[in-house]
Amino acid sequence: MDYGRVLEQIHATVLPTLGQGKVADYIPELANVSPTHFGMAIATLDGQVHTIGDARMGFSIQSISKLFALVMALKVEGDDLWKRVGREPSGTPFNSLVQLEHEAGKPRNPFINAGALVVTDILCTRFAVPENALSDFLEKLSGTPAIHYNHRVERSERRHSDRNSAMAHFMKSFGNLRNPVDQVLDAYCRHCAIEMNCVQLAKAVSFLANHGRIPGSDEEVLDVSRSKRLSALMLTCGTYDAAGDFAFRVGLPAKSGVGGGIVALIPGECGICVWSPPLAESGNSFSGSLALELLTTLTGRSIF
Ligand code: DON
Repeated sequence: MDYGRVLEQIHATVLPTLGQGKVADYIPELANVSPTHFGMAIATLDGQVHTIGDARMGFSIQSISKLFALVMALKVEGDDLWKRVGREPSGTPFNSLVQLEHEAGKPRNPFINAGALVVTDILCTRFAVPENALSDFLEKLSGTPAIHYNHRVERSERRHSDRNSAMAHFMKSFGNLRNPVDQVLDAYCRHCAIEMNCVQLAKAVSFLANHGRIPGSDEEVLDVSRSKRLSALMLTCGTYDAAGDFAFRVGLPAKSGVGGGIVALIPGECGICVWSPPLAESGNSFSGSLALELLTTLTGRSIF
């Protein structure tokens, strides 16, 4: 597959759409980014990296961190994690609280904010400094020495975290949060404020395309079964209440973030990351979703 050429075709097609959608501003610091950035990277399992546009420019990974936090929590907690977080699509926005009251404070899945707060609570119990553990893990997965988080974005989100705070307190009232709410929110906001670029993220997600093993070193991150199941969760829940439409249009496991990034994978072939800051209504990158749709259309590859 000539991925370099495919990326050029995608770039040419999405260029006129850049700027459509709306850059997230409910975390004020996220609004300070040009809406016309676009980057995309494909990291194949045999070690090739193909890029286009701003693929080496760092951006706020936001909810993409939920994927890697979940992998870490699964490694330390195992399947007990599923007693505290479900595995169903929510059909509600990523920051919704409505289901928690009827469902005893157990979030529908680990990728909505409520679910990620429970996952972060597990990491707070298991790691002395969970945010350092996550950045170390991302360094290993991406083969990059210094993954850092943006303190301005972290502080900006922390100052505007009333909704996540309400969710966390509510879940604590059901006994589904073990650590102090402030401690969990601090760690969660740091995870979301990690900055990475498309090349780093395409590499970081590629172990999921490789049966749970890091391509190159062959180190096992997750066993084959867990790796497959995580990809299933990405397909059904990774793009929130747009997951059905995303499966229809793109047909790949994916995880998005309000910084405008989306990671995806083609099993057995490659890890992918695309970045374009303006978001569609669902909170997923507008042009990023289009780019992934074009990728599967032009290559004929998808999981179906
Ligand atoms: O908690 C929040 O609202 C953000 N830190 C992350 C949300 C997010 O990225 C949802 N993604 N599309």
